[in-house]
Amino acid sequence: MLSGMPPESAATSPTSPKSPPLPPPRNPSGPYRVLCVCLGNICRSPMAEVVLRAQLAAAGLQDRVIVDSAGTGDWHVGQTMNPPARRQLERRGYDGSAHRARQVDAPWLAERDLILAMDGSNLANLRALAQEDGRRDDLPRIRLFGEVAGLDGADVPDPWGGSTTEFAEVLTMLETGMARIVSQLRAVVGAAATER
Ligand code: 4NP
Repeated sequence: MLSGMPPESAATSPTSPKSPPLPPPRNPSGPYRVLCVCLGNICRSPMAEVVLRAQLAAAGLQDRVIVDSAGTGDWHVGQTMNPPARRQLERRGYDGSAHRARQVDAPWLAERDLILAMDGSNLANLRALAQEDGRRDDLPRIRLFGEVAGLDGADVPDPWGGSTTEFAEVLTMLETGMARIVSQLRAVVGAAATER
């Protein structure tokens, strides 16, 4: 069962002026793997997945970085994306039709290079999951999207049941933040390529 966690340490505080660099690839000769995580995996994290994948393709990095998403909760497993989330994506030219919701499984944490939590509660739940499963080594790879993306550690607000405007704001936040994350990913996978 996922449970709460104490607040983050000062080293990873979302208010830290400087965000630590992205975790290095586990396998420098393979693709870098990013998992986006929210609560239900029907709104924020699938939107984040679609946006990041599109930006990676635009940057020519689609074979070097692989993206997926999951939720900490199991209520929506197997469902398609929440219709307002999908509509909002479509309005800006993305396709969210292939998505089916999944719940994050502890072993996945050891298979991803970077796990991006959409809000502080998702972060706490993921960290608890890693610790309960004896995966302390994976903790530095679990990061808050708003911290990595240079958004002052802001949570991506939960838009479930919210207005069209709220979904649009979430999408804008994801587009802005992912552009910054793609720049960091380019540096990480570029460095890994030269080490091969
Ligand atoms: P998401 O939104 O975490 O962005 O996918 C939610 C979806 C479902 C629920 C909460 C948030 N829910 O409580 O079922």
